Amino acid sequence: QNQCTTEQYRLRYHFSPAEHWINDPNGMVYYDGVYHLFFQYHPYSTVWGPMHWGHAISRDLATWEELPVALAPDEIGDIFSGSSVVDFTNSSGFQTSPDIAPIVAIYTSAGGAGQRQSIAYSNDKATTFTKFEGNPVLSDANSPDFRDPKVRKLSNGKWAMALAVRNKIEFYGSDDLKSWNKLSEFGADPEQGSHGGVWECPDLFPLNVTQVDGTTLEMWVLIVSINPGGPNRGSAAHYFVGTFDGTFTALPWQNTQWLDWGPDNYAAVTFSNEPQDRFIAMGWMNNWMYANNLPTAAWRGQMTIPRTLGLRDLNKSENRYRLTSVPTAELEALRNPQEYVGNNAEFMVPPQTVIQLTEQATFKNPAMELEITLEISQQPRFSLCAHNSGGEEICFGLNETRWYQDRSKTGNTGFNGEYAATLYASAPREIDDQEMKIRIFLDVSSFEVFADDGLTSMTSLFYTNEPLDMFYVNHWSDTGSSATVKVKNFKVWGLV
Ligand code: FRU
Repeated sequence: QNQCTTEQYRLRYHFSPAEHWINDPNGMVYYDGVYHLFFQYHPYSTVWGPMHWGHAISRDLATWEELPVALAPDEIGDIFSGSSVVDFTNSSGFQTSPDIAPIVAIYTSAGGAGQRQSIAYSNDKATTFTKFEGNPVLSDANSPDFRDPKVRKLSNGKWAMALAVRNKIEFYGSDDLKSWNKLSEFGADPEQGSHGGVWECPDLFPLNVTQVDGTTLEMWVLIVSINPGGPNRGSAAHYFVGTFDGTFTALPWQNTQWLDWGPDNYAAVTFSNEPQDRFIAMGWMNNWMYANNLPTAAWRGQMTIPRTLGLRDLNKSENRYRLTSVPTAELEALRNPQEYVGNNAEFMVPPQTVIQLTEQATFKNPAMELEITLEISQQPRFSLCAHNSGGEEICFGLNETRWYQDRSKTGNTGFNGEYAATLYASAPREIDDQEMKIRIFLDVSSFEVFADDGLTSMTSLFYTNEPLDMFYVNHWSDTGSSATVKVKNFKVWGLV
């Protein structure tokens, strides 16, 4: 039934496989000029099935090339999610060539005996992998939901693993990636985080934050994906900020903090060995609620754009340090200088007014980036919409105090009842600044928004009948409202 090869909805600058099903990004690692993206892959179908690790590479984080399957199921089980690391000190003993460091993949073997952790190594820069003969390397007596190892090297030279274990995270330590001992756990307390669903795909990493007094502090971030229980139901990733010394201690927080408040960013984790010491995350741009029903034909599943993570000090007593996500700088290479429209002259958008930012006459491209600076007062209601001449549109905006995204007018919304129900996603704006910058990345069937320098991000898929190829701004406060919306400047590029 997978003969249909229509490319309608094919994303132009996001990674999607040529054919068949993908879910979580796995084993993302940089080595010798190449970013490797592995991913949960079913090479024989467009629905989830026996999992392999597919493989793609990028040299610029903007374009991707798909390579042959890297890891296939074996007698221990299917290859579920995990991570990879570069073993520069050959702590594992896997190295065979003095000039090439081994890359070690740590993944979950999911089979009849339950879920256990296994490793595989590559001595040819992640081109081919050999499974370790001593697999599995970490088992547990009670093994359902014992998965998704994310490994990193600590400053003391030891390896640390974060593992999702029955709605909490367990941390393990190792000297050689082969034998692991339990260090601690986090999240068993129902007060710690969101427990509306199963915990999956953790990531643990340090980030520096510049505090309001100008000093720099290193904090640890723990990302935990959860399914269901996201802010739009279905799957999503939440996070904690705290300290880590073998034990993760979260700072007090008031509200659950989501890495992305939209419906379509799941299982996001970061690259290891990033050459500029950045933490760059990519997520599976999808939601388990309707993932098996997406109306794409040849393939099903795609990744978000890469996003550089940061921490920002909001100087509040609760939720003081907030994770920010911004499009990775390399994506600027996608901008087409021939397809550009912008304006530095400020203009007001009175209540109940729609102002076109781009017209089809300027250029026509279903892959665009909008960067806009607005100044607001008195809590307006406004939206920024990508639309087409057929009246289809997807919007992001502020409804007085809450950000929202609306994909109710995107044509093909009936393929799954849950998808249609997720029309409105909302998050409060967390700062009072009147000036705000918003960036939107549009790509045929995806809409990724970054507001307030990445303090809020929202990602949605959509499936219109015709491409969305224009942008407008709509100030929809009531007539007579004293709320104001001023556009200070905007830039729109056609991408690729
Ligand atoms: C998350 C997940 C992981 C698991 C993988 C299986 O989407 O359920 O927990 O390893 O997908 O494909």
